[in-house]
Amino acid sequence: MIDLHIHILPGIDDGAQSWDDAVEMAQIAVDSGVRVIAATSHSNLPASIHTEEAERYFGQLERFRRLLDQEKIPLTVVCGMEIFAEGNFLERLKREKLLTLNHTRYALMEFALHEAASEIYRVLAEVKKEGFYPVLAHPERYLCVQKVPAHVYEWYQMGTVIQINKGSVLGRFGRKVQRTAESLLRHRLAAVAASDAHSPVIRTPDMEELQRILSQEYGEGCARLLLSENPRRILENKKVLWDRPIPYDYFAG
Ligand SMILES: [Fe+2]
Repeated sequence: MIDLHIHILPGIDDGAQSWDDAVEMAQIAVDSGVRVIAATSHSNLPASIHTEEAERYFGQLERFRRLLDQEKIPLTVVCGMEIFAEGNFLERLKREKLLTLNHTRYALMEFALHEAASEIYRVLAEVKKEGFYPVLAHPERYLCVQKVPAHVYEWYQMGTVIQINKGSVLGRFGRKVQRTAESLLRHRLAAVAASDAHSPVIRTPDMEELQRILSQEYGEGCARLLLSENPRRILENKKVLWDRPIPYDYFAG
């Protein structure tokens, strides 16, 4: 498996709190069958007290890679950020102060959970216009999507890659988020599933249970597509594959 969304580098965001945490998270990921991760630290958060410039990020990334080597943990770590869509993020992305996933044209993006659907649409369109492919992090957690999941079909149609969270499918963010994630899965609107892990204890990088649920409920092909095939395509800057997404008009929920 490949995990495209994980907060594993310490000293940057609210993810791993120490190098010990980071190594433990890496071991958990590997033990559950993950071989490659994108270390997607939060960036461009409005409340942030530090600037997450790429230079500092790469210093931590290099140190982590050396540590994994020493500990003999077989995990490949590529670069990335979870970019909060606010302010001049697009300018900073173009200047490579903010990072895409593995230097591809795919940018992992997040919005405020209460953001209006029309504003999300407008920003996604702007990102596309600049030649990037937005990978939208956990839309099932957004209030507008919980009310009207059909928004996600529109965003898919305009070329957005939809990434759902492990914790959402497992019910860790409540029943509403879980139901919304299930709805997106039934409509085949999720192209990628990722851990969005923040620690080795809660919100962990263990992907085994998610893989089992996706296989059982939606088929092995779905699990493979969301956990391996599409993440690999993204890291290779190739087009993602979709399994004929179903518009919301076709059936309710
Ligand atoms: Fe995240």
